[in-house]
Order: sequence, then structure tokens, then C-alpha cells
Amino acid sequence: MNSNPTTDQMKRGEFLRSLGMSSAALMAFYCMGTGLTACSSKSDDPSPTPGTPTTSSGLTGNAETAKGAINFTVDLTNADFSKLKTVGEFVKVGNVLIANTKGGKYVTIQRDCTHEHQDLVSYQLASDNFYCNAHGSTYATDGSVTVAIISGQAAMKLYKTTLSADGNKLTVTA
Ligand code: FES
Repeated sequence: MNSNPTTDQMKRGEFLRSLGMSSAALMAFYCMGTGLTACSSKSDDPSPTPGTPTTSSGLTGNAETAKGAINFTVDLTNADFSKLKTVGEFVKVGNVLIANTKGGKYVTIQRDCTHEHQDLVSYQLASDNFYCNAHGSTYATDGSVTVAIISGQAAMKLYKTTLSADGNKLTVTA
């Protein structure tokens, strides 16, 4: 059974929205200092990327932040999730990324990078960290930023992960 602390780090977009900034103003803010070619047209709360199991017979509950609190269970005997039994593998589900990290510890983290919220984050077993292929940000498995692309870059949000007694059900909660 694995259990990880949950962080309540507010995403930068959420913070700026709380100040009343529009989406256009948010994009302008994100693009400042990074150069236009580095800017994404994605919103900061992207929909899950097609091709990942947002619906699956092995998934019960809610994995999408737009639909409410994260609270779901995946069945590791299901083909969509069975690779999670292997150390070093990861799967993206709804708005989260689940990884079986070094030593067999499950870590669940927000799937979009906190730099420009691109969906290009992966787990790297050799360095036991998360890497964003968009511009090279890296994050430790506690969500902290280890290579920041911009000053003050936010940590990744972690979710609590609980493995069932029989080792085949993984429950993820906010
Ligand atoms: S979006 Fe730029 S490093 Fe991830």
C-alpha cells in the first residue's frame, strides 16, 4: 500500500483568474519572456488528450478536474492500466498522470506541465523524475521543480494514491 501526501498548490492560471484576468490576458502573461514560438494556444486547463483512457472499463469515478474533485479507481488487471504494474511505466488518465516510480512507489501528479501547461510530461525511471518534453522542465516525484524554465515556476500538484490490499486496484483522490 502506498500513500503520498497531497499538495494544494494553486495553479498559476487559477491564481491569475482569481485576480480577474481574462484568458487572453493569461496567454499574454504566459508568453512574456518566453518568445512567441514557445507559446501554446492551449488553455491552462486543457481537456484530456484523445487516445488516453478517460473512459475505460477499468476506470471508475472521476479523473477530470472539469467534472469535479478527482476521485477514481483504476483496475490494474485491465489492459488500459496493466502496464502500471511495471516499475518505470506511466499512464495518463483524465487530468492526471500515474507513474510506478523507482522502488515500486505509485506517484500521481497533474499531467500538464506548470510552465505552459503542455501535455508532454513523462516519467523517467533512470533519473526518477518527471520531464516535460516541450521545453525541458523537470520535477521531482514530490512535485517540486528541479529544472525551471521560468523563474518562480510552480510545483506539480500531487494526488493521494492508494493501492488496494490485493494490489490490483489503485485509487486516486485529490
Ligand atoms: S510546457 Fe514548457 S517546459 Fe513544459
